[in-house]
Amino acid sequence: MGQTFYLYRPILLYLPTGHPNAFVLSTQVLESNMYCTSLFKQRSMWVNGPLVVGAGPSGLAVAACLRSRGVPFVVLDRADCIASLWQNRTYDRLRLHLPKQFCQLPNLPFPEDFPQYPTKRQFVDYLESYARAFGIRPRFNEGVLSARYDETCGIWRVKTTAEVEYISQWLVVATGENAECVAPEIDGLERFPGVLLHASEYKSGEAYRGKKVLVVGCGNSGMEICLDLSLHGCFPTMVVRDSVHVLPREVFGKSTFEMAVAMTKLLPVWLVDMIFLCLTWVVLGNLEKHGLKRPKMGPFELKISQGKTPVLDTGTLEKIKTGDIKVVPGIKKFTHGKAEFVDGQILDVDVVVLATGYRSNVPSWLQESDFFSSDGLPKAPFPGGWKGKNGLYAVGFTGRGLSGSAFDAERTAEDIARIWTEESKQAKSFMAGHRMCSSLQWRQ
Ligand SMILES: Cc1cc2nc3c(=O)[nH]c(=O)nc-3n(C[C@H](O)[C@H](O)[C@H](O)COP(=O)(O)OP(=O)(O)OC[C@H]3O[C@@H](n4cnc5c(N)ncnc54)[C@H](O)[C@@H]3O)c2cc1C
Ligand SMILES: NC(=O)c1ccc[n+]([C@@H]2O[C@H](COP(=O)([O-])OP(=O)(O)OC[C@H]3O[C@@H](n4cnc5c(N)ncnc54)[C@H](OP(=O)(O)O)[C@@H]3O)[C@@H](O)[C@H]2O)c1
Repeated sequence: MGQTFYLYRPILLYLPTGHPNAFVLSTQVLESNMYCTSLFKQRSMWVNGPLVVGAGPSGLAVAACLRSRGVPFVVLDRADCIASLWQNRTYDRLRLHLPKQFCQLPNLPFPEDFPQYPTKRQFVDYLESYARAFGIRPRFNEGVLSARYDETCGIWRVKTTAEVEYISQWLVVATGENAECVAPEIDGLERFPGVLLHASEYKSGEAYRGKKVLVVGCGNSGMEICLDLSLHGCFPTMVVRDSVHVLPREVFGKSTFEMAVAMTKLLPVWLVDMIFLCLTWVVLGNLEKHGLKRPKMGPFELKISQGKTPVLDTGTLEKIKTGDIKVVPGIKKFTHGKAEFVDGQILDVDVVVLATGYRSNVPSWLQESDFFSSDGLPKAPFPGGWKGKNGLYAVGFTGRGLSGSAFDAERTAEDIARIWTEESKQAKSFMAGHRMCSSLQWRQ
């Protein structure tokens, strides 16, 4: 199929593209790797090389790996900048929780003077210089509305909010595991008279000084937002509806994550869990008396089997222990600016922050169900979830953060580059043969 596609590329430009009666009227070369065909209303663009959806760290990583292998590409993003999650939807206090060597993208290490845990600003600066270094210029403000594989022509048809239909042999999905906010339905929340926001809208506690803030959720976001609120003179209360694994970010000066990675190469996961639970007990003490019950399953087994990330503590626990951050169980309902909890407590609340997580948006636009499951993540577990059928790839859905993105990006680019190189060779020999035939005919 791939070869046929490459050789008949010019003919494809003249196919009807979905408009009931419309046929292509003109063809124009837009950029070196994009051809535009104007219709009555909708434009169709043929992409020479893969189409990458998403200009976050995963999209940038795969684009850089393609560039290093000489494969052209087009990157689309619904936002008006690269890494919009990091630039627009995260709080000011945010730093990488994992040591920098686990967060850098392929082919360009972090600058040497970056700290062990770079700040959000440093990470964004790094991503911007990464995009510049590899000449990645995404097409912004183009959200993908739908993508489907056209079996007849053997191509992906991808429609965007800019009324453009992109046509490509390869589709790389890099829209992230955190594309949309999750906001739970809680009785009475819709009538809450105070300020209500999701963690993705929270910037700093400065705006809520002196206020009673209820933070719903005790993942890394909820924990860190509580710390930030407390440091800004607010009165935070954190909802822990079930159980949570909190680990120190470092043990005896060594990164917990780094130690766990090293240990899981040598020991079974259950043993690594036991070692870490003992270490955590020594370093952090018994957390249950502060309302933080531990799950029955160990932290790394839970991460592998259910994708639930343990919290790496950056100072919240100390504030919980001193009582500056209160911990409450699940919420029963909201009434007249008060929250009632399952243990019967009732608290006055001025502000509610929903730190209740995120989800993938892939099912809302990708018309495919073999490779992605209904939760928008690849069905195959790591490391098998990067390649689907018909030129479909997924980068950044491993549940392993930035190191997982780097892993997927390298494999995806390598795979596409292999096909690209083979097809380019075949196309060249076809064209050479075609020229020879033409000149023989002319001589006869
Ligand atoms: C608060 C927070 C802190 C985090 N900290 C860390 C950390 O320290 N270390 C770590 O490894 N991981 C961390 N993560 C996980 C983090 O999401 C990833 O590591 C990283 O951002 C993943 O990159 P990505 O490109 O896959 O996804 P994203 O960064 O989410 O990028 C996806 C891009 O796709 C675009 N997009 C989405 N839908 C569409 C569409 N339909 N059409 C066009 N474009 C679309 C978005 O605008 C976005 O630019 C954190 C996550 C959060 C929420
Ligand atoms: N610096 C960093 O590295 C950093 C900082 C922040 C976030 N992150 C990453 O970003 C990703 C998202 O993290 P996140 O903390 O935003 O989301 P998350 O890990 O999905 O946590 C969501 C939290 O909300 C709770 N929750 C959901 N619905 C609830 C309800 N109705 N009532 C009460 N609690 C409810 C969940 O509880 P249950 O567990 O009971 O479901 C969980 O505690 C993770 O990968 C995380 O590691 C990283």
